Amino acid sequence: MAHAAGVDVGSTQTKAVIVDEQGRVTGRALTDTGANVMQAAEKAYAIALEASGLEEREVEWVIGTGYGRYRVTFGNAQVTEISCHGRGAVHLFPGSRTVVDMGGQDTKAIRVSETGEIVDFCMNDKCAAGTGRFLGAAAAALDIPLNDLGNVALSSEKPVRISTTCTVFAESEVLSWLGKGKKIEDILWGVHTSIASRSGSLLRRVGIEEEVTFTGGVSRNPAMVEALEQRLGKKLNYSEDSHYIGALGAALFALDHIRASRIPPAGAAAAHKEASP
Ligand SMILES: Nc1ncnc2c1ncn2[C@@H]1O[C@H](COP(=O)(O)OP(=O)(O)OP(=O)(O)O)[C@@H](O)[C@H]1O
Ligand SMILES: [Mg+2]
Repeated sequence: MAHAAGVDVGSTQTKAVIVDEQGRVTGRALTDTGANVMQAAEKAYAIALEASGLEEREVEWVIGTGYGRYRVTFGNAQVTEISCHGRGAVHLFPGSRTVVDMGGQDTKAIRVSETGEIVDFCMNDKCAAGTGRFLGAAAAALDIPLNDLGNVALSSEKPVRISTTCTVFAESEVLSWLGKGKKIEDILWGVHTSIASRSGSLLRRVGIEEEVTFTGGVSRNPAMVEALEQRLGKKLNYSEDSHYIGALGAALFALDHIRASRIPPAGAAAAHKEASP
């Protein structure tokens, strides 16, 4: 049975997903991208292969995506992450028409058709203020592990209004609120609502359709889900698979390629028969 793979080399984390001929996920992996981008891609792919119980030769086509997609040296082709997030989101949540991808460095707002094709998109302008990095800077300043960030923020009762729009200054603003005696949870919830507000503006630019799907690593943060739902006034589609949606979309594009290569061109079947012994 043929398999297809997608490797999403993000600025912060690298994700790999392998699917079978029916598009079912057989294995996946997540690793920090770090300084050696090529190695991160290789590592994520190796883990996903192992999780699938497959040898490399059993995967027919590999597509690289994400900012490091050209460093997926074992890949057969590249597709942009906007296309991959759109495709993966509609596969996982077929009603998705607006997608918000919050990664380590960028936040992207995408509007998609019912087949997952991109209708419009928009991203933050080379500034990490509305992204995972902004949250990471705040978490580091407060000495809180990333995994706990969301739950701590959700316990807030008197939110602080964060005014900075710059990741570089996030840490100093967080520290200055701490110095004024504000509670950690109230500062953190303020950080989340500030990001939700920026993301809401980005989403309005592409159009907020009925079903909005949240993708990327920040979708694992329950406070970010809550802040964004409050901001948009609606529930979001997300699941524990959301972090892998870009890699899943890439794997599905790879599967399209395999399927297309199997359709014999008109007249080819007869020609093939004649050529066979
Ligand atoms: N368990 C978690 N809880 C909370 N946040 C998380 C968790 N795991 C990852 N994140 C957040 O997700 C971010 C990484 O997300 P993702 O892998 O989508 O980014 P990326 O694809 O590398 O970045 P980009 O798309 O901007 O290039 C991290 O910066 C972190 O803030
Ligand atoms: Mg990404």
